[in-house]
Amino acid sequence: MKISDRLASFARLDLVGAVTPLLKLDRLSRMLGRDIYIKQDDTTPLAFGGNKLRKLEFLAADALRQGADTLVTAGAIQSNHVRQTAALAARLGLRCRALLENPTGTTDCDYLHSGNRLLLDLFNAQAEPVSNLDNADAQLQALAERLPGDGHKPYVIPIGGSNPLGALGYVRAGLELAQQAEAMGPTFSAVVLASGSAGTHGGLALAFAHAMPDTPVVGVTVSRSVAAQTPKVAGLIEGTAGLLDVEVPAGLKVELWDE
Ligand SMILES: Cc1ncc(COP(=O)(O)O)c(C=O)c1O
Repeated sequence: MKISDRLASFARLDLVGAVTPLLKLDRLSRMLGRDIYIKQDDTTPLAFGGNKLRKLEFLAADALRQGADTLVTAGAIQSNHVRQTAALAARLGLRCRALLENPTGTTDCDYLHSGNRLLLDLFNAQAEPVSNLDNADAQLQALAERLPGDGHKPYVIPIGGSNPLGALGYVRAGLELAQQAEAMGPTFSAVVLASGSAGTHGGLALAFAHAMPDTPVVGVTVSRSVAAQTPKVAGLIEGTAGLLDVEVPAGLKVELWDE
């Protein structure tokens, strides 16, 4: 079975809507002497957009299927992922609980209170400060275990929404991008993206290995060395392929830059 058919068998909330634009950056292309395009996932419609909504399409569908009434997640105080999760919870009539860390220890008032952090309050999320998220999965589990005592049913979403179910959002995005690239004519020499919690990278790399295997997908690490990030991405590729019941193509190599 094709990867797109396997993907279609998973429950998904349609939150992103239309295909996101593939925009040619004319001035940057001229400056650098090569054609550069941007896949505009910044234009996803919920709460100022961003890449996390595609993962939440699958994760929130699963939460609703399980009858959860509270989305539980974690991230930095200014996390884009927590902001989009809190917004989605508000939209779906769910509660949101979030563990928030201050990874740089800054005391900057804007960082601590403005931007995404302010939005969490507006979306009525309940935030809990933690000194670190070194064992985030266990910390989230511990929080989730406390909630049934209050009569609530939690659904845990890992940091960045990056588990195999969340990464399906970027398998879907990768297939969408491959179609846009094919329609353009000459193919891309590479796709370059930020690689943090790794669901975006893992999902896109798996989709491209199936749909456009000659085009490398290169992650630029946002918080780790290549050595530390490689097993995270490789693990998500394996896990996502396992969930979809498709092969990890033999030629798929995790490519990362950390300089
Ligand atoms: C705008 C943006 N794109 C991509 C990423 C990376 O996504 P992921 O956490 O799935 O690796 C991040 C976060 O690191 C981000 O903020």
